[in-house]
Amino acid sequence: MKSDMMSWACPHKVIVMLSLLSFSLFVSTIALSVKSTTHRVEGNILSTDISKKTKTKEDHVINYRLSRDVRPLNYTLILWPDLERRCFKGQVTIRMRVLRPTTNIEVHVKNLSINYVDFNDDANRFVQINTTNLIPKREVYEVQFGHNEISEGVYKLTLNFTGKLDTGIVGFYQSKLRGGLSMVASKFQPTYARQAFPCFDEPDFKATYDITLVKPIDYVALSNMNEISKSVDKSTKTETVTFATSVPMSTYLACFVVCNFDYKETLINTSGIGKDFTLRSFAQKQQTHKIDFAQDIGKRATEFYIKYYEVPYPLPKLDMIAIPDYVSGATEHWGLITYRETSFLVDEATTSSQNKISVANTIAHELAHMWFGNLVTMKWWDEVWLNEGFASYMQVKSLNAIEPSWTMLDQFLTKTLHSVLVTDAKLSSHPIVQKVETPDQITAIFDSISYNKGASILRMLEGFIGEENFRKGVSDYLKKYKYGNTVTQELLSSLEPYFKTLYPHLSLKYIMDTWTRQMGYPLITVRPAANNIYILTQSRFLLDPAATYDDDSEFHYRWYVPITYSTSKEKRDDILWFADTSDSVEISLSDDEKLLKINNNQMGYYRVNYPLDMWSQIIEQLKVKSNMLTISDRAHLLDDAFALSDAGILPYDIALSLTQYLPVEKDFVPWETASAKFSHLSKKLINTPAYENLKKYVQHLISGLYTEQSWEKTNLDVIQGLLRTRVLTLAASSGLPDAERRVRNMFLNWLNSHGTNTIIEPDLRSLIYYYGMKHASAEDWEKLWALYLQEEDVQEQTKLRSALSAPEDVAILKRYLNLAWDEKNIRSQDYLNVLQLISTNPSGNGLVWDEVRNRWNTLVDRFTLNSRYLGNLIPAITSGFNTEKQLQEMISFFEENSEAGAGASARQRALENVRNNIKWTSSHQSTVASWLENYVKAIKSI
Ligand code: MLT
Ligand code: ZN
Repeated sequence: MKSDMMSWACPHKVIVMLSLLSFSLFVSTIALSVKSTTHRVEGNILSTDISKKTKTKEDHVINYRLSRDVRPLNYTLILWPDLERRCFKGQVTIRMRVLRPTTNIEVHVKNLSINYVDFNDDANRFVQINTTNLIPKREVYEVQFGHNEISEGVYKLTLNFTGKLDTGIVGFYQSKLRGGLSMVASKFQPTYARQAFPCFDEPDFKATYDITLVKPIDYVALSNMNEISKSVDKSTKTETVTFATSVPMSTYLACFVVCNFDYKETLINTSGIGKDFTLRSFAQKQQTHKIDFAQDIGKRATEFYIKYYEVPYPLPKLDMIAIPDYVSGATEHWGLITYRETSFLVDEATTSSQNKISVANTIAHELAHMWFGNLVTMKWWDEVWLNEGFASYMQVKSLNAIEPSWTMLDQFLTKTLHSVLVTDAKLSSHPIVQKVETPDQITAIFDSISYNKGASILRMLEGFIGEENFRKGVSDYLKKYKYGNTVTQELLSSLEPYFKTLYPHLSLKYIMDTWTRQMGYPLITVRPAANNIYILTQSRFLLDPAATYDDDSEFHYRWYVPITYSTSKEKRDDILWFADTSDSVEISLSDDEKLLKINNNQMGYYRVNYPLDMWSQIIEQLKVKSNMLTISDRAHLLDDAFALSDAGILPYDIALSLTQYLPVEKDFVPWETASAKFSHLSKKLINTPAYENLKKYVQHLISGLYTEQSWEKTNLDVIQGLLRTRVLTLAASSGLPDAERRVRNMFLNWLNSHGTNTIIEPDLRSLIYYYGMKHASAEDWEKLWALYLQEEDVQEQTKLRSALSAPEDVAILKRYLNLAWDEKNIRSQDYLNVLQLISTNPSGNGLVWDEVRNRWNTLVDRFTLNSRYLGNLIPAITSGFNTEKQLQEMISFFEENSEAGAGASARQRALENVRNNIKWTSSHQSTVASWLENYVKAIKSI
């Protein structure tokens, strides 16, 4: 098919009939009948119509799903992006099977103008269309056959369409490059394929794809599959590239890129599991020296997965590409993984260890999806945890295998588990398996419950089934359901036989249902009885102890809990099962066993409370760092103690006393946990006299470790390097005078040499830039802003954006806020993050809150209500609110802007959090303040 068959037409310009592209004899008749029904579905109109309300009464009546009576078999799709005019046109022929006679066929369409339609049977015989309709609310285009029902069989629907490339950064869109150039890319997950081509945009409508892209001659075209042919058209200076027929896949995994990037390639050694194949990594031409790290991790992680899953990589090639404008961190488009640049590019000279670990995590996550998610896909989005929880856990397993010194299994606690245990201890949480229907609800469920809780309960499952059993079950599952769609039950049935070898009388399905089908998690309470027996009971853990809720769970908010424990004598990893239906279970220790710590390495998704004297014993043990307490156990105890105190279950004095062991703590993960607790407390105490005492207390705790750290370049291994950065950051944030002085000197030295002084090593840059800017003058800020505008390295840009939000001077922050709105300064993908950064600064919090309320409609116009990132801005800005006045402001704002779109549940989370904060102040503030005061007095008197 040649591109000169079509002349350019943007949706808002002349509509060109694409009749030459149709083959049926009857084309013109249909074209005529359809011409009058040409529809335009454009961004703003649609986002108002469709995206605004999340759950109205109407939503319950409207069926957002397509009929299951028609299934797509193949898409033959050609797309002509026009980078100059920022639009595209396309033609799709969808071959489909009609399983039951029907009078209409529906496909998803959004923001496209349909210019032409025809419908044929499999022998290319024309079938009369009666009428066509757009149903914007459902993002559906309907072809009606009137009274002439079409019978079962195979048919072909051909549609010609046009769309815009400049309406946002989802769907098929344009990304701007340096020097006025641009590229086109796509991001379809979860419901945006319909913005690029009419399709059956639901994950279980798997079909094959024959993709053709028309691109400028000097550009590269990429898609899921390998290129099979190309032909140049000199008159239009375009080249038409056709890709091999794909394997069956979901629409959200299709991907199209046209760019002028370079790449590096490497061979994936499959160890005989399938054929070896090439992994290529693409980036803008001047950035190709920054893709070696991604290539290296990509190669090793892919080879790990092939061996782990024992399933060949399903496609003939694998590409990864860094795209300058990218809405999420990355997306697992099959065979062509798309990344935000910060999730992919690493310049060894400038990138911190933390940046590298984060890049590696994203790459390992997306690669895990090539099998889990892509080869086997969840049936519907309400089980998205199958994709996301699994990839989030596998990323940790693969990195643990290929980079063991990073200790990712311990870091799982601070990166994944601890934060979701807070989210899930609120009534605004939701079960892992959650009903979703609308596009807003679908995007909103890409949240920490699906990712973090999903990963955490898989980790718990692996803990009690064993690593090899888990691996075998997963491998069986992938082999059994390849190219298919599944529900949670099917994953569990694949694991069940292995589970049964260990626990023949239990049901894995039942156990896991208690974790996936109800929200929240249990608190296990330990009570000593006579003869060294301990009685364990369970109850739902909620951060607000006064919260009341309906018993709307089929398991009555009780769980089937795998109990493990350790004592002074041994670690017991064999499972004591605490059934949801049992009142209690008992642990019986021998006489020589002292000290009981439950939930080894915090593998179980639950918290544990002990009587006060047991907590005191634990604190004493921590002070001598008994070997019985592993790195993860120590982090676990810190995390549980603070959560229990926040919930009013444990006196706050205990949680605070626990931190007194920290001077002997030399490992990163417990310090990372403690640091999160201190920042939690500082948020609460910031405007009170106790804040200074908190800072002094932290200074006291770190003083020993601080003197062991260097501000100079070092050759520490990764985890020691992370500890150093953590300790120095705590020193700077708590105002340790020596740290403050050094930071300021190093920063000014660097700033006044216009950023050319490279003494600051990558691991310390975030900290030195940020705290160096704390007391910045307007002049300092302007200098840093100028450096930011010149900066080309994306990791460095991120650090600078953060530092620009640090000053205490509100006028400076206001200027930043204004400049950030202009896309020439801050890309749209980063704007919401800048708002969050400024709002984290106490001087900027009110500023951002006012800005967001005053300009809400403008924000909605730019990001749409379907953006979960816009929705999540509200809980981020209000996370520290703790007054009735602020709560009222939120309520009024939500009332005035009642359409929350994908942010509906985020609003609920924000409200509950602020209500909890208000209670925290009245319940705990004075206890914490006096504990700190006494402690600081005691230090002074020494
Ligand atoms: C993921 O890999 O977790 C998702 O694809 C993120 C996204 O692009 O929305
Ligand atoms: Zn994912």
